[in-house]
Amino acid sequence: MDGNGRWAKKRLMPRSYGHRKGVDSTRLAVEFFARAGIKHLTLFAFSSENWNRPAEEVSSLMELLVQSLRQYTAELHEKRIRIRFIGDRSSFSADLQQQIQHTENETGANRNMVLNIAANYGGRWDILNASRRLAQQVQAGAIDPADIDDRLFADGLSLGDCPDPDLFIRTGGEQRVSNFLLWQLAYTEFYFCETLWPDFAEPDMTAALAEYSKRQRRYGKTASQIEIPGQC
Ligand code: FPP
Repeated sequence: MDGNGRWAKKRLMPRSYGHRKGVDSTRLAVEFFARAGIKHLTLFAFSSENWNRPAEEVSSLMELLVQSLRQYTAELHEKRIRIRFIGDRSSFSADLQQQIQHTENETGANRNMVLNIAANYGGRWDILNASRRLAQQVQAGAIDPADIDDRLFADGLSLGDCPDPDLFIRTGGEQRVSNFLLWQLAYTEFYFCETLWPDFAEPDMTAALAEYSKRQRRYGKTASQIEIPGQC
C-alpha cells in the first residue's frame, strides 16, 4: 500500500493525512476483494523497517491502526471477515496489542475471507523465526534435519496455514518487494501500478485481477505442458 506520503505531499499536506486517506482505500480494497471471492488478503501496513521513519509519523501510524481497528472491527465481523495480525506485536503499545487481540478474538471464527495485516513484519524476520523453531525441535530430538522439507519449513512461518499468494500488488510505482512475504512469493505473480495508494480504487483493482487472469502460471513447466491437458 505504497504512496500515501507522496499523495499528501502533492496536496501540501502532512504525510499523516495521506495515511488517513490510505485507510479509506484499504476499506474499499478489502470490500472489493471479499466481493470478488478472494479468500486470503494480506496487507503490508507497517514493515519492521518503518520504525526508522520520523517519530511523529510512526506514532500517527500506530494511532491510526488502533483507531481503524476500533472503527471497522464490527463492520468486518458482519461481513464474516477474519482479521489476523502477523509480525512482532511485542513492540506495540499495550493499547494496540489489546485492540489487536480483541479484533482477532471477535472475528476468529469468520470464514468469508482471512484478512492478514502485516504490522512490524519483515520476511527475513519470519524466515529466521521459522528456522529457529526448527533448530530447537532438532536440538530436542523431535525431528531429524533430513525431515525438513518445504512443507515443514512453511508450517513455521506466520502464514503457515494459508496458501501462497497468487497475486502481489504494489501501488505507488516502486518495483520491489521490500521484505514482504519472501518465502511465500516464490511463484506469485507480480503487479506494479503507478497509482498512489489513496487513489487506488475499483478500476485499479479490476485491472489488477484482469492482468492476473492473463498470466500463464507454469511453475517451471513448459507452456505446452500447461496448454495440453494430460501432459502436466
Ligand atoms: C506506504 O506509503 C504506506 C505505509 C507505510 C502505511 C500503510 C498504512 C495504511 C494504508 C493505513 C493503515 C492500514 C490499516 C491496515 C488500517 P508511504 O508512506 O511509504 O508513501 P510514500 O512512498 O509516498 O512516501
